[in-house]
Amino acid sequence: MVLSRLREETRAQHRRVEDLLALLSPAMTVRGYCRVLQAMHAAWLPLEAALEKHCPAQYADLWRGRQRAHRLEADLAALGCDRDASRPGPFQPASLPDLSTAAAWLGALYVTEGSTLGGQQISRHLERKFGWSAGRGHTFFLGYGERTGERWRAVQQALEAPGLDGNQVVNGAHQTFSYLEVSFAGRL
Ligand code: HEM
Repeated sequence: MVLSRLREETRAQHRRVEDLLALLSPAMTVRGYCRVLQAMHAAWLPLEAALEKHCPAQYADLWRGRQRAHRLEADLAALGCDRDASRPGPFQPASLPDLSTAAAWLGALYVTEGSTLGGQQISRHLERKFGWSAGRGHTFFLGYGERTGERWRAVQQALEAPGLDGNQVVNGAHQTFSYLEVSFAGRL
């Protein structure tokens, strides 16, 4: 129930984020891909720190091992790119989502973990396009490899648990997508 609401009510935001990153664009170059990684790193680092800080006790096990900002750093390093470069000029500061309730926190986790699903397709595309293997430059998108489905099902189960406030979950997801969208739009 919450899952179908999440999927439906964040569809337009997902589409906008996908369009901003343009990772499947035939025109994507390694240089352009590095800019995407830089934008993602700038957004992911503070978001992940907020998820860590506000992780509710009941989700401590669920959260374990889902930190992936360091993979963006490794991918940038593997491609010889600076992690801090950003487009010159002003950009709008993005507001982090309010993760003060367990339900909103879970809504944010839905967004960050959902990106491992699209990541499977993105990884295969990058491997084909740039001839990369063994995770070169794309460990972030590889997610948990063969365990991605299993890890996603654990998130789905938490989202389907009885008693969750669906509005707060959806609101947490909305705010998280908005945060990413504003961050990416400011840098890409
Ligand atoms: C930071 C960027 C991204 C975030 C936060 C994100 C988030 C999500 C979320 C939350 C879902 C789960 C939807 C659901 O089943 O309820 C999802 C699935 C998906 N995403 Fe993304 N996504 C991102 C980038 C992308 C990009 C760039 C693409 C494509 C180029 C993409 C393609 C997909 C696809 C194909 C699925 C469905 C996978 C499946 O059902 O097996 N995503 N993403």
